[in-house]
Amino acid sequence: MSKTRVAILISGRGSNMMSLIEAAAAPDFPAEIVTVISNRPEAHGLARAASAGIATLAVDHKAYADRPAFDAALDAALRACEAQIVCLAGFMRLLTPAFTQGWHGRMLNIHPALLPSFKGLHTHERALAEGVKLHGCTTHFVTAEMDVGPIIMQAAVPVLDADTPDTLGARVLAQEHVIYPASLRLVCEGRARIEGTRVVIDEFALGDRALVSPSA
Ligand code: GAR
Repeated sequence: MSKTRVAILISGRGSNMMSLIEAAAAPDFPAEIVTVISNRPEAHGLARAASAGIATLAVDHKAYADRPAFDAALDAALRACEAQIVCLAGFMRLLTPAFTQGWHGRMLNIHPALLPSFKGLHTHERALAEGVKLHGCTTHFVTAEMDVGPIIMQAAVPVLDADTPDTLGARVLAQEHVIYPASLRLVCEGRARIEGTRVVIDEFALGDRALVSPSA
């Protein structure tokens, strides 16, 4: 079985990146992580990826005049390593429509909320302020609009009365580390098909597609 070549884009600590790297270490995983690229040279995730034996690269957005110039450099780096799929894992830069169009159907993102609720930043604070009883995370294909795009998987967690953004965020993050590798597997196995604004999963049990974590 030839493995799909996957590049991961990060901006920070890279815990989701590590969940993908660790999943991809399994012999039966359909993807290999060929490179990790950060727009921030100081991102802790770069050192973690290097320790795991993955090639790393910093493409510092501050070195480019504008967004199109940065995205062109990023695109060139991804094509140079012959990436077939790109996973955004805590990559905190807006991407141009030209870039997202170029990777349509081949770029995934993870977001720490049950989209389409709570796009953008500070999702756990906002979930607590709204008093929602369920919160969670979403993987989706990337489109031109931020945190919008066909949803691949979601996991829900309970919101507890005593939660702080940190405790809630930790509960969500644990589920991010479950659904991101599972989503990448689906995509690389060709089982997640975009149909309009939705993703149709082939031969996959519903219970695995929408996980509800019963534990706090
Ligand atoms: C994760 O919670 C991820 O879902 C979020 O940033 C965090 C990165 O943590 N991404 C977004 O908010 C994108 N809209 P990590 O570096 O430990 O994976």
